[in-house]
Amino acid sequence: LDYSYCTAEAVGQNGFSDADLDRIGKDAALMLDSVLPEAKQGKPGFMALPFMTDDELDPVLKEAGRLKDLADTLVVLGIGGSALGATAVDMALAGSLRNSFARPHGCMRLFVADNPDPRSFGMLLHNLDLNRTVFNVVSKSGSTAETMAQFMVVMEMLKNKMGWDKAAQRVVFTTDPEKGNLRLIAQKEGDFRCLEVPPDVGGRFSVLSPVGLLPLAAAGHNIKVLLSGARAMYERCLNPDFSSNPAALLAGLTVEYMHSARNILVMMPYATDLFGLAQWFAQLWAESLGKASDLDGKEVHAGQTPVAAVGATDQHSQLQLYIEGPQDKLVLFATLDDMGGDIPIPGLFQDIDSISYLGGASMGALIKSEAKATQAALAQQKRPSLNLRLPRLDAHCLGQVLFLLEAATLMAGKLLRINPLDQPGVELGKVLTYGLMGRKGFEQEAKRMAEIDFG
Ligand code: PA5
Repeated sequence: LDYSYCTAEAVGQNGFSDADLDRIGKDAALMLDSVLPEAKQGKPGFMALPFMTDDELDPVLKEAGRLKDLADTLVVLGIGGSALGATAVDMALAGSLRNSFARPHGCMRLFVADNPDPRSFGMLLHNLDLNRTVFNVVSKSGSTAETMAQFMVVMEMLKNKMGWDKAAQRVVFTTDPEKGNLRLIAQKEGDFRCLEVPPDVGGRFSVLSPVGLLPLAAAGHNIKVLLSGARAMYERCLNPDFSSNPAALLAGLTVEYMHSARNILVMMPYATDLFGLAQWFAQLWAESLGKASDLDGKEVHAGQTPVAAVGATDQHSQLQLYIEGPQDKLVLFATLDDMGGDIPIPGLFQDIDSISYLGGASMGALIKSEAKATQAALAQQKRPSLNLRLPRLDAHCLGQVLFLLEAATLMAGKLLRINPLDQPGVELGKVLTYGLMGRKGFEQEAKRMAEIDFG
């Protein structure tokens, strides 16, 4: 994590002096005193996920194998933390165009249908060959309306096509080990296979649990290597020395910027295939840190609005605002040392000076120069930024990044003295929807909606 563009030397009064960094380090050290003893015991639950044993991984790998024997396409039905992680990793490893072309042998096509938008969901269903498709219903609570509605639609279609028993073979649940409707349905019907979401792992922290691991294994990604990357990062995030602990550093610097009203955090990877990671991180950061009150119940309205952007694309859309607009943003770049291939630019049109410089260079050199130039341009206007430098896009590196961002989110929450693990605002939206849709037991919410609905 390169923070040289957060220093006073780079961005003047919007950067940190050595004394500032000392002070931030001291606050972070106190925070680490409370986080590390728990983390060493695998708490909160996501801290233990990198250490899943072979016995725990076995059911995931076996189920992935069974799905591959049945079909070549897997559709995940889930939303929020039950959807974004699988998309982020699959997009990063298999590329953003992964579903436009055939996947390699043994790698299922993976679609994550998170939105109950009848047009897009309908189009997906219409274009699937149900004989070659299986479904993974992912819901920790087993009650999320979007996911349950999608499941019912799919189940009806499958049942009509092949009968209940065969249909149930094509659906696997990932849910709480004991509670919720999916568990209930599995117990009642007995035909559905189930994988478990550990009860102490919240949705947005669950990508390294069976929530993310099953679809990723089915899509052919090496989940053991992904977890080994997360383990390597776990070790680094347990370092009590602030300056050598990337999660503490990221949390400490971003929270300090929040205190000086940098209320927007733009994550801008310079790699198209990392856009999913930026979207996954946006949920993690927003839902974890956006809280009305602190641990003492004092009203604080904490948080920082995350924006998912991608370079160089968004240089030509949002960057003008970042460079000259309100001084309320911090940009978190992510760059790749090894872009995973390069394309030389041929030396055509050598007589046109304004493009001849490109000939003999490469696309990789161009996008890397653009990342550097953007960071420097921001700094010239005294805008701070951070750069997460990744060696390359592989499962090990991605496991590290996911774990780093989860640990940093937890630590930022601790520094802000809020609870980063709950989401009362999301729950409020859910229960008002239940009221509107006539769910039994939510009559009060229906009444409340009648009072507050101005639309
Ligand atoms: O992070 C969270 O807790 C949420 O985003 C949930 O993942 C999301 O609301 C879906 O919940 P569930 O898995 O219970 O269907």
